[in-house]
Amino acid sequence: MQDNLQSGVGIATRARLRSVSRVVSSIQTLEGGGFLVRRPFPTRTLDNFDPFLLLDEMGPMEVAPGEAKGAPAHPHRGFETVTYLLAGRMQHKDSAGNAGKLGPGDVQWMTAGAGVVHDEMPDDQFQRQGGRMHGFQLWVNLPRQDKMMKPRYQEVSSSSLPVAHSADGLVEVKVIAGQALGARAVIDTRTPISYLHFTVAPGGVVVQPVPENYNAFAYVFAGAGQFGVDQRAGAAGQMLAFERDGDAVRIANAAQGTESLSVLLLAGVPLGEPIARYGPFVMNTRAEIKQAIDDFRAGRMGQID
Ligand code: FE2
Repeated sequence: MQDNLQSGVGIATRARLRSVSRVVSSIQTLEGGGFLVRRPFPTRTLDNFDPFLLLDEMGPMEVAPGEAKGAPAHPHRGFETVTYLLAGRMQHKDSAGNAGKLGPGDVQWMTAGAGVVHDEMPDDQFQRQGGRMHGFQLWVNLPRQDKMMKPRYQEVSSSSLPVAHSADGLVEVKVIAGQALGARAVIDTRTPISYLHFTVAPGGVVVQPVPENYNAFAYVFAGAGQFGVDQRAGAAGQMLAFERDGDAVRIANAAQGTESLSVLLLAGVPLGEPIARYGPFVMNTRAEIKQAIDDFRAGRMGQID
């Protein structure tokens, strides 16, 4: 087990490593205006992973000129949408008056709260020229007391996203939320969340501290690796859910491999509240869902100028 300890993370010597509770394979589905996504949840077998409601991997795919698809104007209420783009270009506009462009490596963290209408479309240049599209959308639930909060919008460009490396140089992490390898996120989250993008070269090992009360999972999007104290295998398109039986998560890429392992590690404090869900609205009760539908239909979530 000596290799565990050569991760460049000093706490590895004292960490209690979590085990993997289940391995979930993504389904493929068409979303929005028809872009292909891989989705570990929600599916028929896994409705959510408290406090997370959805994870979509968009692409990777090559888009022909004029063929790029997006999600035209639609509402959200009761949670947060987080978009992390790896390739391609998107533009965003919402009824709270926020507008932004996203390029490779950029993050947009939108807290829908009481309600926004937004569109998420390829930008004009990408629409004309086409190219490679790859990215993620994560939905983070809001606790009851924040579901009707004023909408909030945060954007982090690729160049200001904190990046850190392990001492042995085999692990890189981009810190979207939380902290890792000494780097701390610039995004402010409503509930404590970790959102980390690890790239692990062959022979690299991550031992990432995760507070015991957090739910945590890894989503693999390139390569393959070994996860948890029991070194369960996981490959691209799979989600590995961890038990809450320790205070650190171990992710490794076998030394004999040739391909880098790319993983998102998501963790957060479970809300433990009832979830009433209807398309783009996620509340605690059916009555609140009905109210959301009524409010949207009556134009009370605003409109995009
Ligand atoms: Fe959306």
